[in-house]
Amino acid sequence: MKQTLLLLIVLFCSLTADAQKFENLALTPPMGWNSWNRFGCNVSEKLVRETTDAMVSSGMKDAGYQYVVIDDCWHGTRDAQGFIQPNAEHFPSGMKALGDYIHSKGLKFGIYSDVGAKTCGGRPGSRGYEYQDALVYAGWGIDYLKYDWCNSEGLNPIGAFTTMRDALYATKRPIVFSICEWGDNKPWDWAKPVGHLWRTTGDITHCWDCEENHGTWSSWGIMRILDKQKGLRVHAKPGHWNDPDMLEVGNGMTASEDRAHFSLWAMLAAPLIAGNDLREMSKETREILTNKEILAVNQDALGIQAFPAMSEDGLEVWAKPLSNGDWAMCFLNRGATAKNVNFDWKENFIKDDFAQRQFDAKKDKYKIRDLWARKDLGKTDAVFKTVVQSHDVVVIRLSK
Ligand code: GLA
Repeated sequence: MKQTLLLLIVLFCSLTADAQKFENLALTPPMGWNSWNRFGCNVSEKLVRETTDAMVSSGMKDAGYQYVVIDDCWHGTRDAQGFIQPNAEHFPSGMKALGDYIHSKGLKFGIYSDVGAKTCGGRPGSRGYEYQDALVYAGWGIDYLKYDWCNSEGLNPIGAFTTMRDALYATKRPIVFSICEWGDNKPWDWAKPVGHLWRTTGDITHCWDCEENHGTWSSWGIMRILDKQKGLRVHAKPGHWNDPDMLEVGNGMTASEDRAHFSLWAMLAAPLIAGNDLREMSKETREILTNKEILAVNQDALGIQAFPAMSEDGLEVWAKPLSNGDWAMCFLNRGATAKNVNFDWKENFIKDDFAQRQFDAKKDKYKIRDLWARKDLGKTDAVFKTVVQSHDVVVIRLSK
């Protein structure tokens, strides 16, 4: 049986000269959950089943979250024919059964591997087994693969990620391909035909503005990651997205920092992959992750990332063109004290050369909707007055 499967693998490798990526899988930024930020290597089928249940019962599924992704360390060993097995102690029912469970709840199943012989967590990577692993994943019902860049010495990034893209495509099962090479080789320049999203930076961590030094690498706070997105917005669009890493909402920052982080990722048209424990979220965390008006900004069909339109004394205004001539604007307070805003729309003409859009309140009158207070706040013919708390945001939607 396994010999026949191996023969099939060889056969379909040879049939895939014109491989490409699956189109129309990520027309808006993917939304889901991933185990890494909160659980690291402590993954099990119990955690994944409970998380799947929580995704439904918390309202996250209804809000649009879809993918349940197991990150590193699910692996056992390869069998004598090279087929990868899950860790039998932590995944006793096997991955096919787990995938069936996730699918039975109307959700999708994601998994993780690495271009090298070993993953970042030292588990078996896919190097030399790309087509065989892709076939196994498709058999398990995988819908999303995050593919990492540890132990990649001597590999060409374009070649390594394209090989796995081709292997996935050859399975004929539509699988979202999430490229995780930390922005090291400027994936925005080459990954559009390869993946559906690519990490733009090293790992995120749950702090506002810190660098956590791990010796050979660092993880970064929210503001640090935000600042690394400079210039990248021209590369994102429906089908392929800049990925500033998964969410840290609910993992230890203050509620206002979580709100700011979530709003900024929404403004950046970033993939929204929750990274907290969905089984025991506070009401506050749940309300942040499921704010439908903020999610609508993220999932807007135009898929245009926000840009920093103004900045003064630690207060930034980020602007995102939306469908139907709407705009989202995010007032971000990076500083340690609250800031008063007196914003005269008419004096603040905003021009977006990339999207070829203009915001001109002298010409057009917009209605103002505060997306966190969930309140209509009049129109742009009056000066906008608000207070933005420290490490917080005010996000509004402007509609003609
Ligand atoms: C890398 C990735 C993380 C996570 C870990 C797993 O650091 O960037 O997102 O997948 O590996 O080991």
